[in-house]
Amino acid sequence: MVLFYLFQDYEGNIKENMVAKSKDDQEITVFRGLDGVVAAETDISFVDGIQGDLYYKGYNIHDIADNTISYVEVVYLLLNGELPTIRQLRDFRRKAVSDMRVPTQVIKMMEIMPPSSHPMDVLRTAVSALSHFDSDAKDDSPKASRRKGIRLIAQIPTLVASLYRIRNNKNIVSPDPQMNMAENILYMFHGSIPEKNHSGAMDLLLLLHADHGLNASTFAARVAASTHADMHAAVTSALSTLKGPLHGGANERVMKMLRKINNVNEVEAYINSMLAQGQRVMGFGHRVYNKEDPRARHLRSMSKELCSPDENKKLHRISQKIEDIVMKAKGIYPNVDFYSATVQHAIGIPPEFYTALFASSRISGWVTHILDQYANNRLIRPTSKYIGKYNREFIPISERTSQKKDS
Ligand code: COA
Repeated sequence: MVLFYLFQDYEGNIKENMVAKSKDDQEITVFRGLDGVVAAETDISFVDGIQGDLYYKGYNIHDIADNTISYVEVVYLLLNGELPTIRQLRDFRRKAVSDMRVPTQVIKMMEIMPPSSHPMDVLRTAVSALSHFDSDAKDDSPKASRRKGIRLIAQIPTLVASLYRIRNNKNIVSPDPQMNMAENILYMFHGSIPEKNHSGAMDLLLLLHADHGLNASTFAARVAASTHADMHAAVTSALSTLKGPLHGGANERVMKMLRKINNVNEVEAYINSMLAQGQRVMGFGHRVYNKEDPRARHLRSMSKELCSPDENKKLHRISQKIEDIVMKAKGIYPNVDFYSATVQHAIGIPPEFYTALFASSRISGWVTHILDQYANNRLIRPTSKYIGKYNREFIPISERTSQKKDS
């Protein structure tokens, strides 16, 4: 049992273990990137990499997407383990939408951020700031943590849309209690009632991004929660981790790549040259899936449906061609981030906000995992294989000679 090995080393006498490790180096397996390591038990979502399936609380993501269950229903499902009745959904939605308002102090703080700051960086700071104004700020009981989590699920989309308005010198739009979460997000972005197919696309985006097993940002959230850090602290860790281009930051880079390719005929040469230089094609590949990411299927068809006007049609065609070429060259499938780029573009979201919109949905998974971690906690603290020296001779500063050039 290799996992046992990793934890046992840390729990024992550290000095002796270090010596033992150096002698028994060959016995210690290092799982780089924790690849294949099972670090938690969860009934929240299951990523079946072999079959290419994803389940939320036992429901297949295809059934959820095909039955047009709304994102708010998915949030209810994640938090409560069951799909809501009509009444439960109505009450939950009303509460969620009323929680969407954010304190003016936090809006003001976003206003003074440099316009050059990336939206994910502003969002991370704003979520951290929200903790000071939360009505449960001083209470980390299970009930208060749940209330804080539900508020964050409602407030993060408002922060993202409000930042977009600030960046475009437009008035902040307050959420409309008559609209659902997806409609409200577009309403708060664009200041007008969204077209039905656009709010449908937003709902699909949100529900497909809601949770995904022990992905990097969720793991970061659980690590923070395992130290008994509060809800806002754990979500801030998750946001920081989501930003990276190998995780949630990939969708923004997908659009940057699409924009560099002028037409379908250029795709093959462009992608082959990227691969020849050892570059990664953003929006492709996955740690867990051997087959196609099941979320990509729904986003591909939504992208095709929405990208009918000329410019968008070209972007969708280029995307399809990239998919063909990457499959031919590397046998790698698109992941959730690939077609989410053209879908978000078609509903008027600018690329620098794509990852923040991802966070507006994944917050529901983070909150559920954080609450789960609190409820079944054990400090997450793996160990490392020490490859350094032992018992080096100590030299007083006056006698030291420089071994290395100062960098
Ligand atoms: N483009 C080109 N090659 C890729 C690739 C991509 N997007 N993703 C993986 N590969 C290749 C690697 O170069 C490597 O090839 P090699 O064995 O010939 O060296 C092989 O596939 C395995 O890659 P590895 O980095 O070990 O896989 P991983 O599980 O650590 O990486 C990702 C998973 C997601 C980080 C990786 O697929 C990636 O960087 N994708 C692009 C970023 C992205 O879309 N992120 C969003 C994920 S949802």
